Amino acid sequence: MKRNQQGYTDIHSHLLPGVDDGARNLSMTEKMLTMAIEQGCDRIYFTPHYVPGKRNASIATREKRLQEVKELIAEKNLPIEVIIGNEIYVYGDKEEIVKSIKAGEIKTMGETSYILVEFSTAIKEQGIWEAVEVFQRYGYKVIIAHVERYESIAKNGEALRKLTEAGVYLQMNTESVIGGLFDRDAAWHRKLVAEGLISFFGSDAHDTEGRAPLMEDAIAFLKKKKIPEHILERICFENPDKLIKDEYI
Ligand SMILES: [Fe+2]
Repeated sequence: MKRNQQGYTDIHSHLLPGVDDGARNLSMTEKMLTMAIEQGCDRIYFTPHYVPGKRNASIATREKRLQEVKELIAEKNLPIEVIIGNEIYVYGDKEEIVKSIKAGEIKTMGETSYILVEFSTAIKEQGIWEAVEVFQRYGYKVIIAHVERYESIAKNGEALRKLTEAGVYLQMNTESVIGGLFDRDAAWHRKLVAEGLISFFGSDAHDTEGRAPLMEDAIAFLKKKKIPEHILERICFENPDKLIKDEYI
């Protein structure tokens, strides 16, 4: 790929310290940032869980933690840019979620109109469409986090295609594409990538072990599996460039 010297963008991670079930403290964030850099990332979105109606870290806390991370990056001269967002758990009243976004309580992806949303894994297809309709009506560009997890649509190529045709962007976790000959799920996930249905990769990293920042290993695996270069180019570089500029894909 012609631009991979510029690095990858991880659009989904839990590295903001001490705010959710991801990095517990700043030293864990530092270790995870180092791993992300080793995995070829030069830009990472911190997308802490936001669960409406539940206890979420306050805006002040999130900003303070982000400031600490930025100071660490400057001090240690880490070659990575951090952008803040949220992974919004969507249930209940979507209009209330929109109000929280407008109030700044829930973060879009780096002040753009892109939002990263997740649902219960048991959500029905109709439930996804209802949420998409509300968010798009308010002008938000919807990215569905780890699309491979929702039972109602994950194995339904037609349903996924309809969502992408409606302007919904599908994010896949990098670990989901890795798997050998007998891993039928991983093979299916690679097929979705190869068919151009996936707009973004994210590591969804929560820690340094089981759910670590993973990017280059997954991309290398996809190349080995002969996923077309132009598809990977789009997911890894072109789409993240559009995301940061708040352009439509
Ligand atoms: Fe996540």
